[in-house]
Amino acid sequence: MSYTSAPVPAPLPAPATAPVETLFPREESQPRAVYDAIRDELLLDGRSRLNLATFGTTWMEDEARLLMTETADKNLVDTEEYPQVADMEARCVRMLADLWHAPDAARATGCSTTGSSEAAMLAGLALKRRWERRRRDAGRDTERPNIVAGANVQVCWKKFCSYFDVEARLVPLAPGRLHLTPETLGEYCDDRTIGVVGILGSTFDGSYEPIADLCLALDGIQDATGHDIPVHVDGASGALVAPFLDPDLLWDFQLPRVASINTSGHKYGQVFPGLGWALWRDADALPAELVHHVDYLGGEMNTFSLTFTRPASHVAAQYYTFHRYGHAGLRRLHLESRRTARGLAAGIADLDLFELLSDGDELPAFAFRLTDRAHALGLHERGIALAMRARGWQVPAYPLPTGMTDTWVLRVVVRTGFTPRLAALFLDDLRNAARTVMRATVGVPQELGALALG
Ligand SMILES: Cc1ncc(COP(=O)(O)O)c(C=O)c1O
Repeated sequence: MSYTSAPVPAPLPAPATAPVETLFPREESQPRAVYDAIRDELLLDGRSRLNLATFGTTWMEDEARLLMTETADKNLVDTEEYPQVADMEARCVRMLADLWHAPDAARATGCSTTGSSEAAMLAGLALKRRWERRRRDAGRDTERPNIVAGANVQVCWKKFCSYFDVEARLVPLAPGRLHLTPETLGEYCDDRTIGVVGILGSTFDGSYEPIADLCLALDGIQDATGHDIPVHVDGASGALVAPFLDPDLLWDFQLPRVASINTSGHKYGQVFPGLGWALWRDADALPAELVHHVDYLGGEMNTFSLTFTRPASHVAAQYYTFHRYGHAGLRRLHLESRRTARGLAAGIADLDLFELLSDGDELPAFAFRLTDRAHALGLHERGIALAMRARGWQVPAYPLPTGMTDTWVLRVVVRTGFTPRLAALFLDDLRNAARTVMRATVGVPQELGALALG
């Protein structure tokens, strides 16, 4: 008996222009007809490889795709039924612990998540519980906890604060200071600070926050006030870039103050969207009361997550990419991306119409803006983004966070699959887009016409 294509009645012939239904369908339809209709509609979505807005992986090898398809029917949480994939998850945690210099990688504490956002919730909760325990032990209240980070934090940290009743103390940006810097910490940290979030790879411009210097500043604060404040590193992108490209950079568990680290396997871990990781430096950094022991489907397990059922595909794919590429392969891929990012950033700066806020030298991503002269002529970053969209490129235009909200930027994220050839085509299109926007806005003024762009 086949379960794949049961005979069903042919659908009614569709009118010449069928409206897009929103009511629950009453009848069955043929699988192929439904598949074709959905596929056609999806053509209207952008092409993911031209999406320079996302840090998410948009290219994977066929073997990894195949493994994802073959494990999509397995529930990651059914460890009794699928012990191998559960073991692969544990092995990935140990590999990351090794990569990030955890004191005892063999007994690493961590788990996979749906992305860095879930990992941030778990890490934030651990910081909160540890702080509460310390306060209670000292006979003090546990009211009004706060967390300190730069205003450039990704929205997941604002969500953490609002979901779990923690005050978000976000240090505003300033011209020339696009992320958290050590000298600002003293003003923002106090005895109710559960932790400082350092970002390895700011979402807004791809720059690394100086994690070692932040730790040093917190050492100073501890000496002066007695407040012992741990650091969580949000390495959504950078924790799977820096170990390969910047091995001398001090940012991970080698720094005793770093209590936990998160990353997105689906960013520079080369797995399609749906995977993150949260790791703690040791079992002490993860309060035991947060780990739930459950008996499920004949097995016993410890879970620490905000979700339950998840497909095994992403863990299988991550295990593949770690083994397939290893240290040397990820270095090769990310070096290519960094080279492409730097080359493209330099090409954009040469157009003489834009200025760079970062140059792709840390994460393979950079932000740029129109020059003041171009703004004075009425050009705007949104117009450039729209004109690029007409060619299929997705380049976000957005204002910077608190402290610099008047500054709009465009951002390019380079990932595996954005080849030097695509970068050259992108630059041509950017030049043409700028020309089109200029013509539409101001005609072609003499002063701009003379530029490389003209
Ligand atoms: C620094 C940072 N943290 C957290 C996130 C959220 O990650 P995810 O999309 O994996 O939930 C992002 C996403 O871009 C990010 O850049």
